[in-house]
Amino acid sequence: MEQRNGAQVLKRGNTIMLFIFISHLGLASANQLRTYIVLVRKPEAGTLNSQERESWYGSFLPDTPATSSSSSEPRMVYAYSELIHGFAARLTSEEVESMKAKDGFLHAYPDKLLRLQTTRTPEFLGLSPNLGLWRHSGFGNGIIVGLLDTGIWPEHPSLSDSGMPLPPKKWKGKCVDAGKDFNSSLCNNKLIGAYVYNRGSKAMLMDAREEWDEIDTPRDDYGHGTHTATTAAGAFVPHADIYGFAKGTARGMAPHAHLAVYKVCVIGNCMDSDILAGLDQAVQDGVDVVSISLGGDSRPFYEDAIAIGAFSAIQKGVFVSCAAGNNGPDHYTLSSDAPWLLTVGASTLDRAIRANPKLENSETFLGESLFQPKDFKETPLPLVFPGKDGDFIKAQCEELTTKEISGKVVLCERALGSDMVMEGEVVLKMGGAAMILMNDERNAYALMASRHILPAAHVSFADGNKIKAYINSTKNPTATILFNGTVFRDTAAPVVAVFSSRGPSLQSPGILKPDIIGPGMEILAGWPLNMSLSEHDTKPTAFNMISGTSMSTPHLSGLAAMLKSSHPEWSPAAIKSAMITTAYILNTEGKPITDQTHNPADIFAVGAGHVNITQAADPGLVYDLNADDYIPYLCGLGYNETQVEAITKSKVHCSKETSITQGELNYPSFSVVFSSQGPSSFSFSRTVTNVGDANSSYEVEAVEPKGVSVKVKPNKLEFTEVNQKKSYQVVFSKEGVGSLEFSEGHIKWYSGSKYEVRSPIAVIFRR
Ligand SMILES: *[C@@H]1O[C@H](CO)[C@@H](O)[C@H](O)[C@H]1NC(C)=O
Ligand SMILES: *[C@@H]1O[C@H](CO)[C@@H](O)[C@H](O)[C@H]1NC(C)=O
Ligand SMILES: *[C@@H]1O[C@H](CO)[C@@H](O)[C@H](O)[C@H]1NC(C)=O
Ligand SMILES: *[C@@H]1O[C@H](CO)[C@@H](O)[C@H](O)[C@H]1NC(C)=O
Ligand SMILES: *[C@@H]1O[C@H](CO)[C@@H](O)[C@H](O)[C@H]1NC(C)=O
Ligand SMILES: *[C@@H]1O[C@H](CO)[C@@H](O)[C@H](O)[C@H]1NC(C)=O
Ligand SMILES: *[C@@H]1O[C@H](CO)[C@@H](O)[C@H](O)[C@H]1NC(C)=O
Repeated sequence: MEQRNGAQVLKRGNTIMLFIFISHLGLASANQLRTYIVLVRKPEAGTLNSQERESWYGSFLPDTPATSSSSSEPRMVYAYSELIHGFAARLTSEEVESMKAKDGFLHAYPDKLLRLQTTRTPEFLGLSPNLGLWRHSGFGNGIIVGLLDTGIWPEHPSLSDSGMPLPPKKWKGKCVDAGKDFNSSLCNNKLIGAYVYNRGSKAMLMDAREEWDEIDTPRDDYGHGTHTATTAAGAFVPHADIYGFAKGTARGMAPHAHLAVYKVCVIGNCMDSDILAGLDQAVQDGVDVVSISLGGDSRPFYEDAIAIGAFSAIQKGVFVSCAAGNNGPDHYTLSSDAPWLLTVGASTLDRAIRANPKLENSETFLGESLFQPKDFKETPLPLVFPGKDGDFIKAQCEELTTKEISGKVVLCERALGSDMVMEGEVVLKMGGAAMILMNDERNAYALMASRHILPAAHVSFADGNKIKAYINSTKNPTATILFNGTVFRDTAAPVVAVFSSRGPSLQSPGILKPDIIGPGMEILAGWPLNMSLSEHDTKPTAFNMISGTSMSTPHLSGLAAMLKSSHPEWSPAAIKSAMITTAYILNTEGKPITDQTHNPADIFAVGAGHVNITQAADPGLVYDLNADDYIPYLCGLGYNETQVEAITKSKVHCSKETSITQGELNYPSFSVVFSSQGPSSFSFSRTVTNVGDANSSYEVEAVEPKGVSVKVKPNKLEFTEVNQKKSYQVVFSKEGVGSLEFSEGHIKWYSGSKYEVRSPIAVIFRR
């Protein structure tokens, strides 16, 4: 029953989103109060203490209290610190207008809602916590990973601090006391920080006239935060098992790293203003890595709390990784695309939970399901496709009304955005014995092992069509389902997840995004100990299997923690470069990584490729950047000086001389945008830093994108010292383009067979 409550809460969440969405569409009058994030200039007077800062922020606000129709409320929602230079406050749009005249004002924008980047149906249950693919050398010793998420379940066995040392001296954070539910006694040397930031959410709930329960606790009310935190840095938990299924050792990517959690979401809704507050605190506390599995719509960087807060983080040497989003598979669907972030897409593991349909003619198809009843007889049963009078129009079993399915195996079509488990509920209710659920065309070959409630198999669109043709070809079609359980490597992996958001970046097409992909399908990790997995299964469980770019992001954050512990001197950009230039692009069959269509995935789906954990620790060369290097890039993006200052928090002067095009940023990949009016050739320079052997020599190999020639000068780089820097020039020239929209290639610097430093090249042709 517990989860049913959860579902109601969730539905309430959706209503709120709808309400807010409508009010943003212009129904809000000029005098309606909303939360705005206001970014201001640091006063000339120099450094302020926190009291002076608050009064400086307060000087931007109207003298009158904020009054809505029902009550009056304080103006200030958050006064951010010295790192952010700004505040969140309750204002009307008129008041924001008049504030713009004040000296020191930079930019203001309305608070926005962000979402968790898990797939919509988190009903997946895990079998084998086999993370053996992700073996690596380091464990993240002495590193602190901060997560902005839905909170934490502190009693979880993955958060045991057995064998963990004290937090490093630089740690300034704490665990907040939140009464009976959560206090600092629950923290230990693994979980060293826990906070809750929800004033933005409360203001939104107030706007929607919603009641809320006691929410001032870092305790996870959703599951997502416990899952991402234990993925990044969960301790070893031997004999993790779920409902008696396969046993194994669960562990995070960096099992010796410390965790600090910043709960910025309320029942799954996360506001920009709360995220900024969490990032502000995390950086002040002294975390080394921040992991953000949240996302919203793509926005200019000066109106994006993640981009703004993360810039302060990288100024302090803190690495930030973010989910690309779950809005795939179309192009131009990603968010969190600022070049100072690592933007992470999602792909499959080499594991599937097999439930394979078998027809009377012995033909079998690959399927998946997590519900694998042992007592299901493999004797063939009549097979039906309940399309209207057998004419094969859409048969989405959600809408099934015919009673002709009793005791039969029913072939159903998956409706776009439908809940697969729900289709099975209808089939079961109408008396069906089993379900074969075929994909829609868009989802193609992308399969998911769902927690069905009847014997079921999820099959591809192509296989579904073959089954349809079989039904059509014979008088008494029959079928059964073979439950084969956990199977490794029976198909190629990784495959880019169908939901993983794709580039090009809307805000900055001259930077290739996503940067990288990592495991985000059917990931097993910790789950709040009081939460069941679905309304059909009320028994709480310690582990859950869910999917999303939310799940791939903490994998990369954990890896960043390991790289930081083995290379403490590396900057965030150097860590990112190491991951990008060592990523691999071939699957377990030695062929290019595919997407849901089983064709090679394009560069805007995979970015540089799939993270290679072992190779990233020893990349040979890195493309380094410090925070100031982004200023000419931001000027070149066409932002004016106040907009750039809102991000960088220091006065800037953009001029022709001090701005660069996006492609000139010293990024470890290339994205070249040709337009019909623009130049037909671009020359970009790059500087690499030697982090490999002191005496080493690199030669270059270029694979030219279709329609483009690539010339690299010089074509040899010689190093005699560690940390030595060398520059090269690369010229991209458009040749015959034809009707191409995109093309791709790479350049690779290699030193014998020891190092391969690969930079992918994306090309966008605009007409
Ligand atoms: C589990 O704990 C959370 C956080 O305290 C709470 O919101 C939720 O209602 C609890 N769920 C159940 C089923 O008790
Ligand atoms: C702190 O929390 C623990 C566990 O919930 C509880 O046993 C203890 O009484 C709490 N301490 C205080 C001071 O509230
Ligand atoms: C079903 O069979 C008929 C006759 O053989 C054929 O015309 C039709 O295209 C078939 N439909 C499908 C969906 O295979
Ligand atoms: C799947 O299970 C069936 C029996 O249920 C068995 O005959 C078959 O060999 C299994 N296939 C694989 C690939 O394990
Ligand atoms: C990852 O890197 C290691 C070490 O260089 C290499 O042996 C391995 O083949 C790489 N993995 C893949 C999948 O390319
Ligand atoms: C930058 O653009 C914003 C929005 O158009 C404008 O309000 C602001 O005054 C501009 N700043 C400068 C320095 O031009
Ligand atoms: C690198 O090569 C130079 C010249 O051959 C030599 O003097 C130097 O000792 C070498 N350095 C290392 C670390 O091997």
